[in-house]
Amino acid sequence: MSGARVMVVGAGGREHALAWVLARSPGVGEVLVAPGNAGTADLGPRVATPLGLATAEAVQWLAAEAERRAVDLVVVGPEAPLAAGLVDALAARGVAAYGPTRAAAELEASKAHAKAFMQRHAIPTAEAVTADRVEVASDAVGAFADRSGGRVVVKASGLAAGKGVTVARDPVEGRAAAAAAFAAGERQVVVEEFLEGDEVSLLVVCDGRRAVPLPLVEDHKAAFDGDLGPMTGGMGTLAPVDPWGPTGLDEAMRSVVAPTLDGLRAEGRPFVGTLFLGLMLTQMGPRLLEYNVRFGDPELQALVPLLASDAFELLDRAARGRLTDVRPAWRPGACACVVMAAEGYPGPPKTGVTLDLPADLGHDVVVFHAGTARDADGRLVSAGGRVLGVTAVGPDAGAAVAGAYAAVDRIGFPGAHVRRDIGRRPRRW
Ligand code: AMP
Ligand code: GLY
Repeated sequence: MSGARVMVVGAGGREHALAWVLARSPGVGEVLVAPGNAGTADLGPRVATPLGLATAEAVQWLAAEAERRAVDLVVVGPEAPLAAGLVDALAARGVAAYGPTRAAAELEASKAHAKAFMQRHAIPTAEAVTADRVEVASDAVGAFADRSGGRVVVKASGLAAGKGVTVARDPVEGRAAAAAAFAAGERQVVVEEFLEGDEVSLLVVCDGRRAVPLPLVEDHKAAFDGDLGPMTGGMGTLAPVDPWGPTGLDEAMRSVVAPTLDGLRAEGRPFVGTLFLGLMLTQMGPRLLEYNVRFGDPELQALVPLLASDAFELLDRAARGRLTDVRPAWRPGACACVVMAAEGYPGPPKTGVTLDLPADLGHDVVVFHAGTARDADGRLVSAGGRVLGVTAVGPDAGAAVAGAYAAVDRIGFPGAHVRRDIGRRPRRW
């Protein structure tokens, strides 16, 4: 084999997008995916993960497997293996990895910890109270709701795949969310002021010291059209978006990204990997809603079809602390990703539904698999909550969105749940 052997860790749409873009890199010889899905299986060998991805034992097993298979670079998709110490386990075996250590990944593992970090490093964010008792949460709900016309945000502190947040319309709903989180075993609940503005996802590729921003992405996290219903992991995305004008990104890099990377380095846990900042552009400037320590899903699906330069070079250099003079190049135009979710999502999804993917969706359309598998007869079936991420590139946002929906309408599967307003949010800019 000539070229690098890369192992992508994870099983969702983001990991299909990673495997897809890495497989196109001239420097890559083989892409292994652990464990992947039916879509990644077309791109390279599948590494079964008998222990899963989320425990100390599982990450030790994966690290040993990467070493045994002489992997040159491991690219970690989801947060759970990062929080379980996969990158630390790989480092101990001398295997290069794109992703943060467990200590650096704590920014996502606990919302209470992240909020304390933001406050410690004077990073602009919503005012908040971290409560360890339901009475404290209840008082905070009342106080913040009073300030924002009744609205208040309640966040379960632990990892919840983006689903542990309630944007409550009134204190009754806010208190119920806090009580439910404690009842579910949460030890800390963050209650914070409701911020009004345009929300964007900023993803930056970091090498411990330097940061390279990717184009801004708009995500649609609520389950239903009009941003109604429960939070999901993300129902669709559009890239690039530009709510801020030319200086906005510089402002976010200066006021949010730089102090984050400096703060982590000063605390002895430099950040390598993707720092994903959920930002709200308020009238007072950008405010940080949350950190994630990985690529967004489905943010990444709307970015990779636009990438015109070498993904492997970017991630490999970041992993090795050598992100000097690397600037990714992007195709002109826009890309939209519309998620086709299973009946029931974000609750327990119906699985095992046969999927029929037309072969001729067009060269500007890429369908990334998320929860898919092959059944005993080799048929493609649904196997998770978010099933497919249907992407299309177009000369502008409107064309990209239209292209993605045209493909969605040709796919369809029984019970499929699709938001119809992805990329169609009224623009305030
Ligand atoms: P998080 O996981 O913290 O990003 O929260 C999930 C979603 O809840 C965000 O993407 C926002 O849409 C919304 N959200 C979180 N915090 C706030 C806030 N302080 N004000 C308004 N909306 C928020
Ligand atoms: N799409 C939001 C996330 O990846 O958390």
